[in-house]
Amino acid sequence: MVDPQPVLVLNGPNLGRLGRRQPEVYGRRTHDDIAESLVRRGEELGLSVDVRQTDSEAYMISWLHEAADQELPVIINPAAWSHYNIAIADAVAQCTADVYEVHLSNIHAREEFRRHSVVSPYVNGVLVGLGTDGYELALAVIAWRRQRSEGQVHQLRPPVSPVDDPASSD
Ligand code: DQA
Repeated sequence: MVDPQPVLVLNGPNLGRLGRRQPEVYGRRTHDDIAESLVRRGEELGLSVDVRQTDSEAYMISWLHEAADQELPVIINPAAWSHYNIAIADAVAQCTADVYEVHLSNIHAREEFRRHSVVSPYVNGVLVGLGTDGYELALAVIAWRRQRSEGQVHQLRPPVSPVDDPASSD
């Protein structure tokens, strides 16, 4: 059995108020509820999911540095920071494992200022307008890519013929 892959899910400002915050836009589920189901979904997918939320830019940057230093995959909803925060974008750019950007709402169908993300150029993929399914789909992609890369490692291993195989030398 392979060890679970640690994954950070990082949520930015105002997302701690999900459930109470404009439910017609962001849904009725609370952050705690979403976090709990992402942890459970991760367990099913062989991922150890750590969900964090902050309204503080300094915390978010330190978590992204942690992901960069430990080469951890990240799913990030930078919330309003997406649209203007170059320090968050610079921290995302340092991550070497996959990073997926999630927005619960379809930012392209909303106000003009939400249609551009300064973070998007530095991520592997963006999931927009799918509600909390966006996080689950990003987890599924991380798990699927991990399995596929492990499969490729096996395929790339040089074939051992029975003649070369020390185990069959007697
Ligand atoms: C959001 C969209 C942002 O424009 C907004 O500032 C948020 C949430 C989303 O998940 O749809 O806080 O990132």
